[in-house]
Amino acid sequence: MPSDGKDSEPASVPPDTPRGARSRSLRRLTPYLRPYVPRLVLMWLATMAGIATSTAIPLVGKDIIDDAVGDGHGAALLPLGLLVLALGVTEAFLTFVRRWTQTKAVLGLETAIRNDVYRHLQELPMSFHGDWQSGQLLSRVTTDLSTIRRFLGFGLLFLVMNVVQLTTVAGLLLRMYWPLGLLIVVAAVPIFAVSLRFEKKYRRISREVQDMQGDIATYVEESALGIRTIRAFGRRAHVYGEFDAAAREVHRVSMDKVRLASRFFTFLEVIPNVTLAMVLLLGALAVGSGSLTLGTLVAFTTLMLQLVWPIASLGYILAIAQEAMTSADRVVEVLDTEPEIVGGAEVIERPRGHLRFEGVGFRFPGADRPVLRDVWLEVRPGETVAIVGATGSGKTTLTALVPRLADVTAGRVTIDGRDVRDLKLPALRSVVATAFEEPTLFSMSVRENLTLGRGEATEDELREALEIAQATFAYDLPWGLDTRIGEQGMSLSGGQRQRLALARAVLSKPRILVLDDTLSALDVETEALVEEALRGVLADATGLVVAHRASTVLLADKVALLRDGTITHVGLHHELLSTVPEYRELLAQDTDLDPEEALR
Ligand SMILES: Nc1ncnc2c1ncn2[C@@H]1O[C@H](COP(=O)(O)OP(=O)(O)O)[C@@H](O)[C@H]1O
Ligand SMILES: [Mg+2]
Repeated sequence: MPSDGKDSEPASVPPDTPRGARSRSLRRLTPYLRPYVPRLVLMWLATMAGIATSTAIPLVGKDIIDDAVGDGHGAALLPLGLLVLALGVTEAFLTFVRRWTQTKAVLGLETAIRNDVYRHLQELPMSFHGDWQSGQLLSRVTTDLSTIRRFLGFGLLFLVMNVVQLTTVAGLLLRMYWPLGLLIVVAAVPIFAVSLRFEKKYRRISREVQDMQGDIATYVEESALGIRTIRAFGRRAHVYGEFDAAAREVHRVSMDKVRLASRFFTFLEVIPNVTLAMVLLLGALAVGSGSLTLGTLVAFTTLMLQLVWPIASLGYILAIAQEAMTSADRVVEVLDTEPEIVGGAEVIERPRGHLRFEGVGFRFPGADRPVLRDVWLEVRPGETVAIVGATGSGKTTLTALVPRLADVTAGRVTIDGRDVRDLKLPALRSVVATAFEEPTLFSMSVRENLTLGRGEATEDELREALEIAQATFAYDLPWGLDTRIGEQGMSLSGGQRQRLALARAVLSKPRILVLDDTLSALDVETEALVEEALRGVLADATGLVVAHRASTVLLADKVALLRDGTITHVGLHHELLSTVPEYRELLAQDTDLDPEEALR
């Protein structure tokens, strides 16, 4: 009951979320339901008809006992028996229809919302300068979407179904014989109240146990890593004591959790059984005195037992509902974030991939000095230019301007003579593909990460892209390409992440491929293999490749040296090597050229 819930801790919903905002979030998501209306209508019809049949069965049973058996009308037995059979089959069929329509509608709905979220996120300036927040946002959204799906696909249906079933059956019971009906309604109150309380407590304790286990893992990790320091300072007893205390605490709380659950489920057995005993006892008396027929009593007990689960599960369902509201808020928050970068209206019909920087300047908002100034650079269709420059010289910024992860603050970047700001964003992003040094991979499957909401790539294309990027390790993950990675899944090494990001960029077969130090975390051998394969890709595409190593520079037709935010030299690798001392110095830090480095 509400008064019971009030004093307990707030569940997962932050207290400052206004109610109005929450219902707005759900309303904002309702347009997604529109294409599924026919299916959902069918689902609801099947659900309601299912409730009707399952309630009707005990009522026919009552007639069987009272009329056919009790009054000795053997002739009515057969038709009534057949009716029960028909009702049973119908109920089974309706359950099938409900499940089937429900699954189809809900999966479609989740996909639709997810595609929109991904599409939207691609318009937000993410992965630029390690904008981890948007990355985390997306990971969260993936979890949020499954919470919403769970609610729409299961919680909402059962919520309504349970309430409808509860009210009809309770009404029926009260009408059949109100004193016993009243008894049952009264008995339902504690079941509902306790299940609500149980759900809240159980969730809190579960989270507590999870956090504590995390803490313990950290203890173990730290003391394993710092074992020498701990010994050296004679702190072993102290550290062990801390660990021991933490372990005991987890044990205690876990026992609380078990105790709570066993109490709840015992309670769930006891109340209905006690009620049943009372109904049978009082019912027998009533039958004896003639105020109740035997058939009614049997129907009564059957109907009453049908109520236990709907009542007990309400607590769980309400908890899911609350979670889904919070998730809807977060998803809507992402959907409603205005992209800072808005696309133009043009598309390029047959992109050739002619890339030009025309007097480009870039200044971060609020910064006093521009990062880039007066950059002129031309990359002709099919040509590849390597960008070489010291750390902080603006290489990442320069590459980010092409797919408009950021916009120039002076001059313009053009593709085939058109300002990138005039292009539709999807058109631009289909011409340009990027892979960054610190790629953002999301908490979803490898496949989803590779196709990122644009799922039309074939298996063969996927394999080809993974082979080019030397990322076929993905097939050997526990669930192959369906393995979830990121926050809540498999963790990957920096090199593996880079290779997947490269595969993602290559997969879209872009006219312009922009690589910002994408190979930095690879070992020399793998890098060589990737470079060999990239040569084929870059032969057709226009390439802008940030390079630190001579081997990467050699992929390019020419090199541009970026210094203090502007391009000072453009030329062939060997020309710059012999004429520009700074270029020589920059590449001398490379393992290939520096013997001292190579010895390490
Ligand atoms: N968000 C930011 N706000 C202000 N300055 C930034 C930001 N991100 C990077 N910078 C500065 O911009 C310059 C160029 O950075 P970057 O393009 O990453 O260089 P590179 O990739 O060549 O190492 C650096 O001096 C860096 O400190
Ligand atoms: Mg960089």
